[in-house]
Amino acid sequence: MLSAVDAIVHVALCAGLTLGSGRLIVPAGLQGEVAGLTDWKRWAYMSKWMHERRRDQYYRRAKGEGYRSRAAYKLKQVNDRYHLVRRGDVVVDLGCAPGSWSQVAAQLVGPEGTVIGIDLQPVEPIPGVVILQGDMVEADTVAALEEVLGARQADVVLSDMSPKTTGHRLRDHLRSVALAEAAFDFACHHLRLGGNLLVKVFEGEALAEFLSEVGSTFHFCKVHAPPASRKESSETYVVGRGFHGMPRCSHLR
Ligand SMILES: C[S@@+](CC[C@H](N)C(=O)[O-])C[C@H]1O[C@@H](n2cnc3c(N)ncnc32)[C@H](O)[C@@H]1O
Repeated sequence: MLSAVDAIVHVALCAGLTLGSGRLIVPAGLQGEVAGLTDWKRWAYMSKWMHERRRDQYYRRAKGEGYRSRAAYKLKQVNDRYHLVRRGDVVVDLGCAPGSWSQVAAQLVGPEGTVIGIDLQPVEPIPGVVILQGDMVEADTVAALEEVLGARQADVVLSDMSPKTTGHRLRDHLRSVALAEAAFDFACHHLRLGGNLLVKVFEGEALAEFLSEVGSTFHFCKVHAPPASRKESSETYVVGRGFHGMPRCSHLR
């Protein structure tokens, strides 16, 4: 069964439709991938993408199990291995749209826990999740998040934030590291002692330095690419377990 978005893309592909400024409809997540391609190459790329998406086991499972995206299985797989999120936890989910990590986190923490999700994009309500909209690199957004947290500290900070990709490997990597740093900074200020961190980052030159920051701030630090991450993707996840506390966050003011 096709979703509404699939259906629109499918119809556009089949009919060879162009919209707006004479361009084929391209889902937001693919715009970086097809930037600079001719209409025909873009059509061929999207046609292949649609075909692979329908074959993708995690995409099909997500639809069947009611998750908003296949990313749900990345968090499930990381959590099965590293036990980051537990029942009753306070979890902050940065870059939560469309919401599958928040859905998984809400199941893991149960009714006695709290999940607060935030994204640049609007997110449809999720039972048991407080959702905010804003940019995590803006002080106002961080302040809004702090207001929701109140006196509580987070047990876990998750970040699946990704920049809009441009296709320029180094630029995309550096933007992704900047978002990972924003998540780390938030974690340093708001995690309880012993708390856990999971942050997405695109692989590249600056990963080693980010890892050493996380490694010097958490008892355990590891880079892990879950099986649900696409093989061709440069994304990987930095796992930090057992937060030492603010004094160990070397970059803090
Ligand atoms: C791969 S998606 C997250 C998927 C999500 N974990 C899920 O399971 O549904 C990455 C998200 O990061 C968000 N994002 C990127 N930069 C951000 C920022 N500065 N502040 C907040 N969210 C951001 C994007 O809007 C996008 O929705």
